[in-house]
Amino acid sequence: MMTPIRLTCITARQAEDPSYLRHVAGSGCTGVVPEYEQQWGQIHPAPDTWNWQPTDTIVQRATAIGLTVEGHCLVWGAPDYPDLMPAWVTRGSWTRDALLATLQDHITRIVHRYADRIHTWRVVNEAFDDTGARRDFVLQQVIGDDWIEHAFRYAHAADPTATLLYNEYGIEWGALGGGNHKYDAVLAMVRDFTDRGVPVHGIGLQCHLDLQYPSLPDEHDFPAVVESFRDLGLRVQTTELDIRVDRSAAEPSTLLRNQGLVTALVCRTIDAHPGGSVCVWGLSDDTNWLGAAAAAAPYDERGRPKPMADALAPATPGRQPADRAVR
Ligand code: G3I
Repeated sequence: MMTPIRLTCITARQAEDPSYLRHVAGSGCTGVVPEYEQQWGQIHPAPDTWNWQPTDTIVQRATAIGLTVEGHCLVWGAPDYPDLMPAWVTRGSWTRDALLATLQDHITRIVHRYADRIHTWRVVNEAFDDTGARRDFVLQQVIGDDWIEHAFRYAHAADPTATLLYNEYGIEWGALGGGNHKYDAVLAMVRDFTDRGVPVHGIGLQCHLDLQYPSLPDEHDFPAVVESFRDLGLRVQTTELDIRVDRSAAEPSTLLRNQGLVTALVCRTIDAHPGGSVCVWGLSDDTNWLGAAAAAAPYDERGRPKPMADALAPATPGRQPADRAVR
């Protein structure tokens, strides 16, 4: 059986800290993903301005100790982060052809620069809302629905050997007729892409989960979701796993044990298929985007492993479960 692949997101500042990189490697992660440095607004803030240094730092420091790097992400237009897409794009006066040319230049320059070191890209992130409609932002408005197809074709042209993923949250359920319109829309899009030979190779299930929500993956629907994408010939990766717990809701030890059980289900399901991998969105509670109070990461704010960390660890003979960080 293949050794399960584990990754974590990382920032350039964390990558500059050798002790943090040792913690990443010691956690069993064999790869990292830039947490935000490759977003358009960060890496390409003006038409002729490229901010390569943060990604260069992550790639250089990570690969120097044998970690792989996945690209995240070439295009994400969500309005809830103001610096995600730069104003020169969102407020420009564009024709369809001019914006397509800009999109192609953006993707091509980034993929070309890292083609020998980054071999998997989350090309497009979160293009649908919960109703299954396309998110309304400049690329959708000016180019139309086919902006996503063009993004994947540009990335493939820039590096035909790269694995190209569509990345989304909230589609970890719904395969068993659960009325998940976003899941239905994503499945329909990638089915159309694979039917027409658009170069998409996999799906990133973000898996930002919450023990309080009913849409937690269960042992029936989650495998059915993965199978539905596998049936199209796609690989399925968990790309941003964290599991929020509400410590006021129940006995902490029960919450952390349940967090570990959900993690084990996600890992068991993803690891069962070739090309699967599980990426956590930050190793410890204090570096997770939700903040320490959410207790959503595999390690607590003092770096102690929780049951989630044990569930992520590849099953190694004789491994003693680490002491439980129960607070
Ligand atoms: O650290 C810089 C600071 O030096 C600078 O002054 C400031 C203004 O530019 O930016 C700061 O960087 C912020 C960064 O987080 C670090 O805190 C960025 O503004 C902010 O946009 C960035 O937010 C990230 C967000 O994606 C947008 O890129 C979060 O860290 C990151 O956890 C979050 O991750 C997303 C995934 O990419 C997609 N799925 C959802 C997930 C959570 O929202």
